[in-house]
Amino acid sequence: MKITVIGCGYVGLVSGVCLADVGHEILALDISQDVVTMLNQGNPHIHEIGLHDLLSKAISCNQFKAKLMTHEALMENDIFLIAVGTPSNQGKIDLTHIEAAISDVAEVIKLKETKCTVIVKSTVIPGTTDTFIKELLEKKSGKSASQFHLAMNPEFLREGNAVQDFMLPDRIILGCEGEETRSILEMIYRPWSCDKLFCNAREAEMIKYACNYLLALQISASNEMANLCVALGGIDAMSVIEGIALDKRWFPNKKLKPEILSYLTPGCGFGGSCFPKDVEAFRTLQGEVGLTPYMAQAILDVNAQQPKKIAMSLKKHLGELTGKKILLLGLAFKPGTDDIRESPALKIGYDLLEHGALLQAHDPIAMHHVSLKHPVFKDALVSDWKAAANLCEIIILATPWEEYRILSDLLEHEASSTKVLFDCRRMFEALKFKKTTYMGMGYSKKKVATCIS
Ligand SMILES: NC(=O)c1ccc[n+]([C@@H]2O[C@H](COP(=O)([O-])OP(=O)(O)OC[C@H]3O[C@@H](n4cnc5c(N)ncnc54)[C@H](O)[C@@H]3O)[C@@H](O)[C@H]2O)c1
Repeated sequence: MKITVIGCGYVGLVSGVCLADVGHEILALDISQDVVTMLNQGNPHIHEIGLHDLLSKAISCNQFKAKLMTHEALMENDIFLIAVGTPSNQGKIDLTHIEAAISDVAEVIKLKETKCTVIVKSTVIPGTTDTFIKELLEKKSGKSASQFHLAMNPEFLREGNAVQDFMLPDRIILGCEGEETRSILEMIYRPWSCDKLFCNAREAEMIKYACNYLLALQISASNEMANLCVALGGIDAMSVIEGIALDKRWFPNKKLKPEILSYLTPGCGFGGSCFPKDVEAFRTLQGEVGLTPYMAQAILDVNAQQPKKIAMSLKKHLGELTGKKILLLGLAFKPGTDDIRESPALKIGYDLLEHGALLQAHDPIAMHHVSLKHPVFKDALVSDWKAAANLCEIIILATPWEEYRILSDLLEHEASSTKVLFDCRRMFEALKFKKTTYMGMGYSKKKVATCIS
């Protein structure tokens, strides 16, 4: 099928390239000429494992091409997959890009004699597709909703694993009305054999939000529990998680670790382009319909505090941080991606600078984005993190890239290591360290609270 993907970011580009790989003919449109040029040269502007190869293959098979978002380009196909960004603006989703893209598509629907299909892949709050988007399409095209197909198809890929997630999803959620629209969606996703859930657009939108809300809830609840472990002392939250995981309801098959356990690992909080903005939008939506967002607010409050725990904890144990040489390892919001949006690592970095630390920072692939978008860190960025680790007295592991795994050996093999390692992601086993002072989220050696009545 010929499909136009609008927006070539993490979702649009990965969706486009994967849809091309299963045989669809993809035209990918973006407002950035730089992005379009790079894509047509076979170079993804974002980092995702496997994306480069799939893009090159799709281009060489003439299954994928990129163009600037223009009226002429939009006229080429009748199916539009909307994957533009829906960032957060004061806690609400900002529909500016959706509005622009949908308005342009509506101009095309107006002129076309064929019945066009608009599939919303961007994350939008429940009620957006069947009101705002539908009405905008009707108004700008001058046609009624029965003269075009409209569907909501949320995306669940995880950055860092996006290609695999798109190719092997747990499920595909398809929100639409009517048999005709349903059959178009069925044709697009025929190559996928996973569960496909057909529902209405609102339900599809809510499934996406509820999913991120509940995952974020696990993270914040687990972090709050881990903070209590630290306050009490003598309890390693990781041992607690291990004990919880033996409950068959969490861990039905002892041979395979359920991935939810990674969400329970104590850490410096969640970041990225989805969880923070989606929970914020969920909270705002509750308020707008007259509900009190107790839980959503708590998720965000706990999460906002987590990155601050690092400087607080270092200060408590080591004194003032002014003038202390600190190396921050990992700046992307998680390993496997160059995305730094809402990265807890950067929040830690800002906090350390405020405390007067002499900061050095490293990330395997995100440093370019950091120097462009957070110039305050420009002078702190180092390419040789091992050399920097030698010179710094405190090392903070903020994003657990695999290449940092050798850190424990590096530190422990130093003749007289007097360094402090703060493991924000519990990448290392606390007890492995003999020479290095190990500090970690949810971990405190000392038992401070002896009696609780
Ligand atoms: N990133 C993720 O992991 C992820 C996962 C699931 C869902 N989502 C959702 O998918 C949507 C897209 O997210 P993303 O991370 O890919 O965003 P992104 O910011 O990486 O990419 C958006 C792209 O759209 C382009 N664009 C903006 N306006 C346009 C227009 N009018 N016409 C054509 N192109 C336009 C931008 O130039 C950019 O390249 C969001 O709603 C997000 O919440 C993201």
